[in-house]
Order: sequence, then C-alpha cells, then structure tokens
Amino acid sequence: MKVLITGGAGFIGSHLVRLWLREQPSISIVNLDKLTYSGDLARLEEVGADRRYRFFQGDVCDASAVDEAMEGCEGIVHLAAETHVDRSLLDGKAFIDTNAYGTYVLLETARKKGVKKFLTVSTDEVYGSREKGHFTEKDPLNPTSPYSITKAAADFLTQSYAATYGLHAVVTRGSNTFGPFQYPEKVIPLFVSKALSGKKLPLYGDGLHVRNWLAVEDHCRAILLAFRKGRKGEAYNISSDTEMTNRELTRRILKLLDKPASCIQPVKDRPGHDRRYAISSRKLRALGWKERFPFEEALRDTVQWYCQNVSWWKSIVEKSRDFRTYYAKAYGNG
Ligand code: NAD
Ligand code: DAU
Repeated sequence: MKVLITGGAGFIGSHLVRLWLREQPSISIVNLDKLTYSGDLARLEEVGADRRYRFFQGDVCDASAVDEAMEGCEGIVHLAAETHVDRSLLDGKAFIDTNAYGTYVLLETARKKGVKKFLTVSTDEVYGSREKGHFTEKDPLNPTSPYSITKAAADFLTQSYAATYGLHAVVTRGSNTFGPFQYPEKVIPLFVSKALSGKKLPLYGDGLHVRNWLAVEDHCRAILLAFRKGRKGEAYNISSDTEMTNRELTRRILKLLDKPASCIQPVKDRPGHDRRYAISSRKLRALGWKERFPFEEALRDTVQWYCQNVSWWKSIVEKSRDFRTYYAKAYGNG
C-alpha cells in the first residue's frame, strides 16, 4: 500500500514514518512536509535511502502540490500542523491556514481522487479543560486557544467528509506526547535543554496544571491501529495512565538530571491556560491498543537522549531565540 503522510518531518510524524517502514515491508510512504521552523529532515536520516520512502517538500494549503504528492496514494495520515499553543497566542494566522484550510485542501483532494482511507491526527485539547473525570469521544468539543480551535476545525472537517461524502475518514485525539527529537519549545525538551544549559526553568503560574503523558512510539502505534481498524467517521482518544501536574513533572526532570529545585523559576501564567486535560482511551483499547512504555522508563530514556544529542537541540535553540524574546515581551514569561 502507498500512503501519504503529511508533517512527516516533524516530531511525531518522523517517528511514525520510521516505525511504519520498520514494521511493514510492503508499505510505501510519501512524506509531504513544508519544512517550517519545526520540520527537520535530520529526524529521518536513517530512512533517507530507503526505496519505499520519498520526501516531497510542499505546503498542505497548496492544492497543486497536494494533488501531485497524493498521486497513487490509497491512504492519508495527516499530521502537518502548527502545533505550539504559545505561538498561537502571538499570531494565529498560520494556525488557521495550515490546520483548518490545509486540512480542507487535503480532504477535498482525497475525495476527488477516491482515496480509500484518511486519518487526521487531532488532539485531546479539542475537548478543553476538565476538573474531574475523563472525556469520551461522545463529549462535545470545547476548545479555547487558537491552536485547539483550529485543530477542532480540522477534526470536525474530517468527520464531515465521512458523513457527507462517504470518505473513510477517522480522527485520533492524542494527549501530550514526548520522546527523542521533539522540538525544544515543548515543555519536556525545553526544560531539559534549559537545565543542561544552566538556565532557569520557566514554570507557568502555580505549576498545578495537569497533563496526560504519552510516549511517542505508543502514540504512533495507536495512530497505525486506528488507521487499520478505525471505523468510518469515528474519533478515537489516545491517552496513557500517567497524568501529573507540571510541578511534579519538573521535579522528576530535575531529579533525573541531578539538579536542585532552585532551578525552577515560577513565571506569569500562559493566558487562557487550560487547567487539566483528561480523556478516556477505552474505545481504542477495545481495538487492542495498550501502552508499551511505562512513563518512568520513557522519561528517563528521553532525558538521556537529550543529554546525548546536545548538538541537535542546541542549533535549534539558537535559531528559536527570536520567538522566546517576542513571547517574553508579550506575556512576561518566556
Ligand atoms: P511538529 O511541530 O513537531 O511537526 C509539525 C510538522 O508539520 C513539521 O514537520 C512542519 O514542517 C509540518 N508543517 C507545518 N505546516 C505545514 C504545512 N502548511 N504544510 C506541510 N507541512 C507543514 O508537531 P508534532 O508535535 O509532531 O505534532 C504532529 C501532529 O500531532 C499535529 O497535528 C499535532 O496537532 C498533533 N498532536 C501533537 C501532540 C504533541 O504532544 N506533540 C499531541 C496530540 C496531537
Ligand atoms: O495535549 C496535546 C497537546 O500537547 C498537543 O496538541 C500540542 O501540539 C502540544 O504542544 C501540547 O500542548 P501543551 O500546551 O500542553 O504543551 P506544552 O509543552 O507547550 O506545555 C505543557 C504544559 O507545560 C502546559 O501546561 C504549559 C506548561 N509549560 C509550558 C512551557 C512551554 C510551562 O509551565 N512552561 C513552559 O515554558
């Protein structure tokens, strides 16, 4: 089978490309990626020479590029997105373009070409915050940031193509994902890289916001299962059993690095900061998914990876300085 993966040069997309090629000899993958600030082909060095893999640089908003990249593909797994909440608070335009309009372009092209399966990788953030209990796929969506609102648009659009045009479209809603090669603006690689550079770790607000943590390979296996077995027009939550406050997460990172708690710098909260994300993945578990990577081990291996791959994240941190300065100026917490 030939599939198109969008955003395959990003963090989760690159893990998915490598996993799929490793585990399914008959798969052939076209990776459509614009290579925005967060895209990096270094993540795909090990598959660059694989004849079953082809890289296509292009924008999901560009209908002719999408048409060309999708030629001959029977399935689409769509991950390309603007993904960082803090960036969406500064300027939402790219989020609206890529996450909403880009998804429309892909769906429309897939419909016209008679693509067999289309999976959109959405997020737990579309449900919004919840104090107690867990959201199921039947709960209404209540996104709050420009990021989560544009992801909800992509999520709904995908489902609408199943309802309206009969496209075999499926959505996955994953929780906070971590692992090697994650762009060092997200909290785990950001805090590890700051600690290794002797800098303070900017913990937002009271640090008691809660996130559910999912190892990247577990997330990828869940996407592959939903692609294979997911029912037309359905959404599938993906979450682990590990939820914790940001303060506790930070404490564990510092412990692994043998650094003192005085490295933490409490800073002004993120505007509109969702307090807690919590979803039930019972529906996906019923299809046979379960985590393989216990949190403790995955966090230890991840921290170790960043310790061993300093040159990879250092060059990115240098380039992303502008954003942090701009963000700190706007919100006093960069
Ligand atoms: P990432 O920021 O690391 O990668 C995004 C990729 O998309 C990059 O390679 C980038 O170049 C590409 N891209 C961006 N705009 C594009 C465009 N217009 N055309 C083509 N390519 C474009 O993101 P990630 O963390 O790997 O997230 C991947 C997907 O998973 C996203 O859809 C995100 O919303 C979703 N998700 C992420 C998490 C998480 O915790 N990281 C959790 C749940 C869902
Ligand atoms: O829940 C899934 C989502 O997880 C994905 O859809 C998004 O693409 C991904 O970016 C992530 O969103 P978050 O906003 O939860 O991730 P982030 O790493 O930015 O922040 C995680 C938590 O850490 C959040 O509560 C904010 C806090 N934080 C973050 C940063 C960057 C800090 O306290 N300080 C920081 O400097």
